[in-house]
Amino acid sequence: MKCILAISGTPGTGKTEVGQLLAKHLKTQILELSDFAKQKQLFLGKDQDRDTFIVDVDQLRHFLVDLAHRSDERFIVVGHFADEVPIDFLELIVVLRSNPVVLTQRLLQRGWTHKKILENIQAEILGDCTAQALTRHDHSKVFEIDTTNLSPEETVEAIEKILAGKGNQFVVGEISWLHTLDPKLLHQIMEERRLP
Ligand SMILES: Nc1ncnc2c1ncn2[C@@H]1O[C@H](COP(=O)(O)OP(=O)(O)OP(=O)(O)O)[C@@H](O)[C@H]1O
Ligand SMILES: [Mg+2]
Repeated sequence: MKCILAISGTPGTGKTEVGQLLAKHLKTQILELSDFAKQKQLFLGKDQDRDTFIVDVDQLRHFLVDLAHRSDERFIVVGHFADEVPIDFLELIVVLRSNPVVLTQRLLQRGWTHKKILENIQAEILGDCTAQALTRHDHSKVFEIDTTNLSPEETVEAIEKILAGKGNQFVVGEISWLHTLDPKLLHQIMEERRLP
């Protein structure tokens, strides 16, 4: 049964905010993967270099299969590794994208180190979450929304449009930050020497 609606994206792109609003609109449950992993202790250890915990994705998938089997209704799964949703249960996956300059400001506000921000900005420029989603799921189920100039409400409207089968403008391939950044700056970002 295809009951999981996944929302992925680089940290700070608005997954939690949008997911919670969407859950209200659709009157569905929402599962925040990072909270769930903490609650169930699904960690393999800590990545000291990256200052993050390493999630045991095999176990996580196992729990998600179990949840999906027990659910007779659609539910929303949110997280930057939401692509881990087992393929048989995925209705569709929406990757939220944000302009790297705007995203940098949001991550700076969180007090993150430049190193951690740069890693995430690089991932956003490379479209890492989308690439991950495409390696696991059928292309027809993967969508991207540029939320840079959208409110959370407008982003929810866009997701509802996709759910209604009218998501042509959100197919993968439309969003690229490469041409929005000065080549010299882009080079410095990739060498981890400068934030955008
Ligand atoms: N269009 C938008 N959609 C969602 N959030 C937005 C939008 N514009 C600005 N924001 C703001 O961006 C910030 C980051 O949102 P949020 O915490 O939901 O990100 P996240 O993707 O869940 O991050 P993490 O992966 O770290 O949990 C919030 O302060 C939110 O209000
Ligand atoms: Mg979040």
